[in-house]
Amino acid sequence: MSALEPTLKKRPEFINVRVRRQDGPSEEPYWELHKIKYEPELNVITILQRVAAQAKTVDGKAVAPVAWDCGCLEEVCGSCTMLINGRVRQSCSALVDRLLAENPDEIVLEPMSKFPVLRDLMVDRQRLFRGLKRVKAWVPVDSYYNLGPGERVLRDTQEQNYPLSQCMSCGCCLEACPQYNKVELTQKDGESDEEFEARKNASFDEGFVGAHAISQAMLFNNHPTGKAIADERLTALMGPGGVATCGNAQNCVAVCPKEIPLTTSIARAGRATTVQAVKNWFDK
Ligand code: SF4
Ligand code: SF4
Ligand code: FES
Repeated sequence: MSALEPTLKKRPEFINVRVRRQDGPSEEPYWELHKIKYEPELNVITILQRVAAQAKTVDGKAVAPVAWDCGCLEEVCGSCTMLINGRVRQSCSALVDRLLAENPDEIVLEPMSKFPVLRDLMVDRQRLFRGLKRVKAWVPVDSYYNLGPGERVLRDTQEQNYPLSQCMSCGCCLEACPQYNKVELTQKDGESDEEFEARKNASFDEGFVGAHAISQAMLFNNHPTGKAIADERLTALMGPGGVATCGNAQNCVAVCPKEIPLTTSIARAGRATTVQAVKNWFDK
C-alpha cells in the first residue's frame, strides 16, 4: 500500500452498500440500500456475495441477488469493471477497508455508463470487442501447416510490447473517455438476429474505436508476424472514429488498471497513420 493511501482508522460495525439496479436492458434503474456486517479485508466482490446471501434490503424487503460479472478474481479477465464510489475500476481488486477510509458512510456501486446494462451491474461490452476486430488486433496466421519458429523478437521490442500486452479488455479507458459515447440499440419487430447484429456493428463502427484498440493496433504492428497487416490496421485507424477522434484528454491513461501507456500508443498511432496516409496517396 502506498504511504499516500488513506487507512481505515476505526472499524465500523456495519457497511452501507448502495447499489444502482436495473432489472433488464432498457428498464428504469433504481437504487437499493443494503447493510452488511463489517469484516476486515473484504473486496467488493465479497461484499456482493454477502449482499446476495442476505437477500434483503436495509428495510427488510426480500430482493433477488444483485447480478454482476466476474471471472478470475485477480485483475486479469477484465470482466468485473464497475463504478465504485463514482470511479471506474475492477471490483475484485477494490479493497473495502481502503474504500471506507475514503468514505466511511457508504460504498456506492453502479454499472459502467458507456455500455448497455444487461442487468444490475452487468453490462454488454460487445462494442469493446468490435473495436478490436476493427483494427484486426491479432497475429494473422493463414495456414494449418507447421510454419516453423517465428522471427526472433528483439529485447527492445519485447520491452515496448509487454506493457501493451497486459490489456484485459476491461473497458475502464472507454468509460473514462469523453469521446466514447454509449451506443444502445434494440431489436426491431421483424428484424432477424443477423440484421440486428449488422445494424449494431455498423453503428459501433461509426463511433470512436477507443484507446484500448488503438493500443492493441500498435502492439500487433510492432510484432514481427503481426506487422504483415500493419497497413490494414492503420487504414482502419484513419477511418471514421479512428485515432483523429481522440481529443487527448488523457483520462484513459489515468484509469487503466494495468497502467498501459495509452497516450504513448495514441501518439505512435497518430504518427504512423500520417505516414500511411502519404503512402496510400502515392500508391493510388
Ligand atoms: S486521450 Fe483520447 S482515448 Fe484517452 S481519454 Fe482522451 S480522448 Fe479518450
Ligand atoms: S487499455 Fe487498460 S483500461 Fe483499457 S481495456 Fe485495456 S486494461 Fe482496460
Ligand atoms: S474478476 Fe477478473 S478482473 Fe476482476
